[in-house]
Amino acid sequence: MAKKKPNYSELIRGGEIPRHIAIIMDGNGRWARKRLMPRNMGHRAGMSSLKQVVQACDEIGVKVLTVYAFSTENWKRPVDEVDYLMKLLVEFMHKELAELNEKGVRINMLGSPDTLPRDCQTEIEDAVRLTRDNQGMVFNIALNYGSRREILDAVINCSKDIAAGKMATKDLNEEVFSSYLYTGGLPDPDLLIRTAGEMRISNFLLWQIAYTELWVSECPWPDFTRADLCHAIYDYQRRERRFGGLITKSQDEDNA
Ligand code: IPE
Ligand code: IPE
Ligand code: MG
Repeated sequence: MAKKKPNYSELIRGGEIPRHIAIIMDGNGRWARKRLMPRNMGHRAGMSSLKQVVQACDEIGVKVLTVYAFSTENWKRPVDEVDYLMKLLVEFMHKELAELNEKGVRINMLGSPDTLPRDCQTEIEDAVRLTRDNQGMVFNIALNYGSRREILDAVINCSKDIAAGKMATKDLNEEVFSSYLYTGGLPDPDLLIRTAGEMRISNFLLWQIAYTELWVSECPWPDFTRADLCHAIYDYQRRERRFGGLITKSQDEDNA
């Protein structure tokens, strides 16, 4: 008989909920291939997972959710696939915006909007504007996002401010530099989830994940559910975050 899965939704109750969860939503193509479907059907199925996970994070009490929707490197894909991904995003916003706004979710875009299709830019701009003053969960969509680009943009903007006399070089520290990133003002991710098993970061939040807990699942994104999210949080609650220091009592005693 198959072993019954633990009820992670129940098990995480009362434990620490990660303030910021970041997700690399990967494996849509493989999900579709396994079903002999076109890759785009995998992307469409992935949108249902996204809807479910955004809702779950909000209900569980996550303060910031950042999802990787399209990387600066994803432009290398066939034009049809890129177009479809952009269309899906517009569709997602169209369908979900009212409900997200009602829940007080604040939508942000991480990435450069300039090279996105016009309708996609407009849809995102509208969502950001509409939800700007909301006080609930922050929902960051990393779209046309690359972490190296983000860091370079931050360096350029810091240099400009120094050249303009708005900031002195001696005042530049990690905290100030962080404020120049697209995620400025937000806490770093506590937990990074990657679906579909790849053991890499793929140019995502390189600066911000310095001490983030990593959780990789074999499950492709379209199969990822609220239960999987809770499983990740459950495992997170059992991690010992040391940030380079010592935490356990025995380690302290060893040093005494
Ligand atoms: C993630 O799924 C979606 C994006 C990167 C936009 P993939 O399309 O990368 O799926 P695989 O990795 O080919 O299975
Ligand atoms: C990362 O997935 C980007 C997104 C999920 C948007 P990829 O499928 O592009 O990553 P690689 O190519 O396997 O590293
Ligand atoms: Mg992939």
